[in-house]
Amino acid sequence: MAVLITGGAGYIGSHTCIELLNVGYEIIVVDNFSNSKPEALKRVSELTRKYFKTYCLDLQNREGLEKIFTDNKIEAVIHLAGLKAVGESVHFPLKYYENNINSTVTLCEVMKKFEVKNLVFSSSATVYGATETVPISENTPLGATNPYGRTKQMIEGILEDLYESDHNWSIALLRYFNPVGAHVSGRIGEDPSGVPNNLMPYISQVAVGKLETLKVFGDNYSTVDGTGVRDYIHVVDLAKGHVKALEKMLISKGVESYNLGTGQGYSVLEVIAAFEKASGKTISYSIVERRPGDVGICYADASKAKKELGWVTCKGLDEMCQDSWRWQQNNPHGYNVETKLLIRS
Ligand code: UFG
Repeated sequence: MAVLITGGAGYIGSHTCIELLNVGYEIIVVDNFSNSKPEALKRVSELTRKYFKTYCLDLQNREGLEKIFTDNKIEAVIHLAGLKAVGESVHFPLKYYENNINSTVTLCEVMKKFEVKNLVFSSSATVYGATETVPISENTPLGATNPYGRTKQMIEGILEDLYESDHNWSIALLRYFNPVGAHVSGRIGEDPSGVPNNLMPYISQVAVGKLETLKVFGDNYSTVDGTGVRDYIHVVDLAKGHVKALEKMLISKGVESYNLGTGQGYSVLEVIAAFEKASGKTISYSIVERRPGDVGICYADASKAKKELGWVTCKGLDEMCQDSWRWQQNNPHGYNVETKLLIRS
């Protein structure tokens, strides 16, 4: 029996593949490689010394998806595939609704047809929108503030409805806080296309000399030093959270949301200082206006995942920066290589 991972070649997907393989799961990856590279999967195989099938397929291709379910014995799905850039989603909302919602609905229809009812879904803390209090627990009212976030919130609603219609489903909604870091080998990491939007890849590219100066968006929030505070979580801890959620889904029924964060917030200036320590480089930065749509402070109450999944984070900010830096130094241009990999279509 295998676990199907959609979007398995992406940043979170590739790390999740490693953790699943390391604890003995058989995996199958499906990815359309619209924002990821086959090279990531080649490296997953190298690091784990394990082979797995990879399909190049868009999830909206129902026939292709049905063939994967026909040809393989799949017992659960970890659904990570989706478009994820907040800014782009504001400019192209229909592209986001069309892609993220339709692919999830098609996936669920095919799962239903093949009686596969165990699902771990990649949601985001973005579903909470601008909250009034921290830490943010799963009971905090939802209110995504951009099209990307609304696709995640809508999909959560669709999956809750699905469970209501059929109590044989077992669904985990994983709300990620701010994933950063990379595999300790320095072989797998985040490979953003173009200029990064997010803080950690931006800092890494300043450190390696690809970008000149970091713009710090605002220093007048009500935080320790006025800069924005976030709950950064090491991507390997996050990947292990998927394994824990999967284990729970395989033995119980229901639909549950879980915050995956550390419960600890750090300001932008604290992250810069930690990265300077990890890399030995000076990060040039300047304070600019607040970024529209940003909140001042956001961190998780992750006690539900600890209690119900037995999951806790192990890696702190220093390790996140060290691992991000190792990946960036070893791969200044990301997965910029042509890879020959047996990919099915
Ligand atoms: N920041 C800067 N300069 C930059 C980039 C970011 O100062 O160049 C600051 C932001 O203002 C914020 C912090 O660094 O205070 C973190 O910003 P990120 O862009 O790294 O992350 P966000 O918290 O804005 O967003 C992330 C993901 C979203 C997800 C959200 C969930 O990028 O996809 O967390 O809460 F929806």
